[in-house]
Amino acid sequence: MPKLWKGRFKKELAAQADDFNSSISFDSRMFEEDIMGSAAHAEMLGSCGIIDKEESEKIVNELFKILSDIKEGKLQIDMECEDIHTFVEAEITKRLGDTGKRLHTARSRNDQVALDIRLSLRKETDSILGALKSLIDVLCEKAGENKDAIMPGYTHLQRAQPITLAHHLMAYAAMFCRDIDRLLDARKRLNVCPLGSGALAGTTYPIDRGMTAEKLGFDSITLNSLDGVSDRDFCIELASALSLVMVHLSRFAEEIIMWCSWEFKFIELDDAFSTGSSIMPQKKNPDIAELVRGKSGRVFGNLTALLTVMKGVPLAYNKDLQEDKEAIFDSVDTVKMCLGAFTPMIKTMTVLRGNMKAAAATGFINATDCADYLVGKGLPFRDAYKATGELVALCIDKNTTLEELSLADYRGVCSAFDSDVYAAIDLEKCVSARKTPGGPGSVDAQIEAVKKFISSK
Ligand code: ARG
Repeated sequence: MPKLWKGRFKKELAAQADDFNSSISFDSRMFEEDIMGSAAHAEMLGSCGIIDKEESEKIVNELFKILSDIKEGKLQIDMECEDIHTFVEAEITKRLGDTGKRLHTARSRNDQVALDIRLSLRKETDSILGALKSLIDVLCEKAGENKDAIMPGYTHLQRAQPITLAHHLMAYAAMFCRDIDRLLDARKRLNVCPLGSGALAGTTYPIDRGMTAEKLGFDSITLNSLDGVSDRDFCIELASALSLVMVHLSRFAEEIIMWCSWEFKFIELDDAFSTGSSIMPQKKNPDIAELVRGKSGRVFGNLTALLTVMKGVPLAYNKDLQEDKEAIFDSVDTVKMCLGAFTPMIKTMTVLRGNMKAAAATGFINATDCADYLVGKGLPFRDAYKATGELVALCIDKNTTLEELSLADYRGVCSAFDSDVYAAIDLEKCVSARKTPGGPGSVDAQIEAVKKFISSK
């Protein structure tokens, strides 16, 4: 495939250098963005009188034909081309001759590629935002169904205090809401148009940067042409926001995996989201959750790769920047794939409330409430804490629970105890009494707030 930049060279590029230099294998996915950007550019060239209006219209129409031909499978992208920009320009020139050759007036591949990545990542960000909203919807739905599903809350992975599954799920909803906020914030800096930066120093043609930016749905144009062609902060910001999405998904996946184990058995995943073993007939494995946990690694790796690629790049464009695409596209694709499998897995899981409740019944998770009861009877908290600790030790000795301990045992430790202690340490009561904002007794308000947040974004 002849190079766009053929003129000053006497030799062909060596095959090894050609393969090494080429990016079409991973930038051809931006064909639509490249065509839309080119069409906006051609239209602007015509309206600013830089090229003939008729020629500009011809270019725009033909570009749209190229787009539909690719989409309908009538036109194959030529993988021998150096990159997608070369392919589109070669194709328009093949179809329109000299008119096609005018498309690249007042433009460089450097501002062109910066434009294409921004357009492409804007679309991907919007799709991930939608996928996160769907996951949060499912979490709200599941939380609504499990407001009275008592389970142990943990610290140090030790049973700590009673909560509900609804409260636990809404913790993840809170994380994913922050992810939405972060992505929307990153989107603001992403949605700035670099077209018109030229190779590095703008252009002498009287272009209208505002016009192309507006046509392509950007909020504004980049301030400085050197920065316009060499900035990839928006890739790094997105990679970073996506890394946090993966941190959250991975933590959730880890809990799902634990909850599926015989040691917990709090949930059962649907058969459609579980796998078996080739040798052990009894196995039902949470592979989907494990893969989500595992895939977080590549997303964090991509963030590190992007930071490292950028840290030594002098102004302005350098070919190092071509390394942005595989990393950020992989992060985008991975997060989309993970959300695509994770959300229906959560939606279809069965909650084994009996097992959750049974786990909550042992481990003395109402001990804090027992101490709080004594505080209600006038004891300072530290004394109440000590007395309850003694009761727990007594329970361990007698192999029993706080609920089953006799009133005599209670009084033996502290005379302030009365028969109303049993109501005070009842698990349902312990949960519903924690009505402070953010607590398990205020889950309704949390669900409502999250739903409101989602519909406002
Ligand atoms: N494939 C290149 C990239 O992804 C396009 C820009 C090429 N520009 C250049 N001056 N060689 O970065």
